Amino acid sequence: MIRSNFSLLHYNTFGIDETAQLFFSFTTINELIEFLTNNFRKDLPFFVLGGGSNVLLTKPFAGTIIHPENTGIDIIEETDTEVFVKVAAGEIWDDFVQWAVEHNLHGVENLSYIPGCVGASPVQNIGAYGAEAKDSIYQVECLSVADVKKRIFNNTECKFGYRDSIFKHDEAGKYIVTHVVFRLLKHAPFNLEYGSLQNIDAATATLQTVRDTIIEIRKSKLPDPKEIGSAGSFFKNPVIPNEQAELLKNTYPNMVTYPAGDGFTKIAAGWLIDSLGLKGFSIGGAQVHPKQALVLTNKGGATSSDVVSLAKHIQQQVLDTYRITISPEVIYL
Ligand code: EPU
Repeated sequence: MIRSNFSLLHYNTFGIDETAQLFFSFTTINELIEFLTNNFRKDLPFFVLGGGSNVLLTKPFAGTIIHPENTGIDIIEETDTEVFVKVAAGEIWDDFVQWAVEHNLHGVENLSYIPGCVGASPVQNIGAYGAEAKDSIYQVECLSVADVKKRIFNNTECKFGYRDSIFKHDEAGKYIVTHVVFRLLKHAPFNLEYGSLQNIDAATATLQTVRDTIIEIRKSKLPDPKEIGSAGSFFKNPVIPNEQAELLKNTYPNMVTYPAGDGFTKIAAGWLIDSLGLKGFSIGGAQVHPKQALVLTNKGGATSSDVVSLAKHIQQQVLDTYRITISPEVIYL
C-alpha cells in the first residue's frame, strides 16, 4: 500500500501528529521487492518505522516511511539444546516473547512487554533486566535498498552495543530488516541478577513466572502506551570515565552507578533527572513521567516542539549540575 501525505499519528507511541510525504507498508517480501524495484523514490530519504515506539516525529517527514507488516514465527532448525526461530520484522515483539515462553524456549523472557516490532530489535539492540536482544539474535535478514538483494548479517557483523548496532552507523539507511533469526535455548539458567528480579526464587521459577514478574514491574513504572503516549526511556544511561564518576560519587553518594568496563562507569540517567526534582515537570503537553524520570510522556496534546523543549531543558539541567551530557535514546525524525 502506498499513500501520500499520510498522518503518522497512529504509527508512533508518543501520539505526535506529523505526516509522511510517502508511506508504504508491506505484508510480503515480494510486495517490498516490487516496491523497491518499481516505485521507490531514490531521490528522497527513507526511514523504516516499525511500532514507532522509539521515535520522536519532529516535523513532516519529507521522504518515504516504510512500515513492515509481514508476519510469521517459524522454527527453522532444532538441535538437542537449541531452537532457531525465524521471525518476520512486522511481528509485534512481545507476541514473539510470549510465543517463546509458551514453547518453553529461553533467551528473550527478560525482554517481555517491550513495545515495538521484531524488525527494530537488532537495530536498537533492545534491552532490559540484564538481557539484550543481541544475546539471542543469530542472524538478521535484510533487503538492500540499492540493488534489492537479500543480505544476511550474522551476530558479529551486526556490531551490537548498548542500544546500538551497525544498522545505526556504517549500514544506516542501506537495508530494510525483513526477518530476524533467534537462537533460543531449550534449557538455560534464569537471568535474575537485576535488582527487582532478585525476589524471584530461582528454584521454582518458570519462564512464565519470570515473564509475569517483568510485566508487573514494567506496568508499575512505565506508562501504558494505550493510555499515555511515550517512547519508553527517552535518554540513554551515560557512560563516563571512572575518575569523573568517583568525584561525583564523593559529592553525591546516592548517585546510582554501574561498572561499564574498560575504566568506565554507567550512570542511571533516571536518577540524575529525578535528583533535580524534575519528576512530573512539564512543558506544554510534554511531561517527565511522575513514576520514572527517564521517561517523557505526552500528557495530552503535546507537540513535538513541547517534547524537544522538555528534553533540552533536562539535558541542560543535568549538564549544569553534573557536567554530564545525556543523549536521547529516542531517534528524532
Ligand atoms: N532511578 C531513580 N529515579 C527515577 C528512575 C530511576 O532514582 O526516576 C534509579 C532507580 O532507582 C535505579 C536506577 O535509577 O536505581 C535505574 O533505574 P531502572 O532500573 O528503572 O532502569 P533505567 O536505567 O531507568 C533501563 C532501560 C529500560 C529498561 C530498564 C530495566 C535504558 C535507557 N533504559 O532503564 O529500557 O526497561 O533499564 O532493565 O537503558 C527503554 O529502553 O525504553 C527502556 C524502558
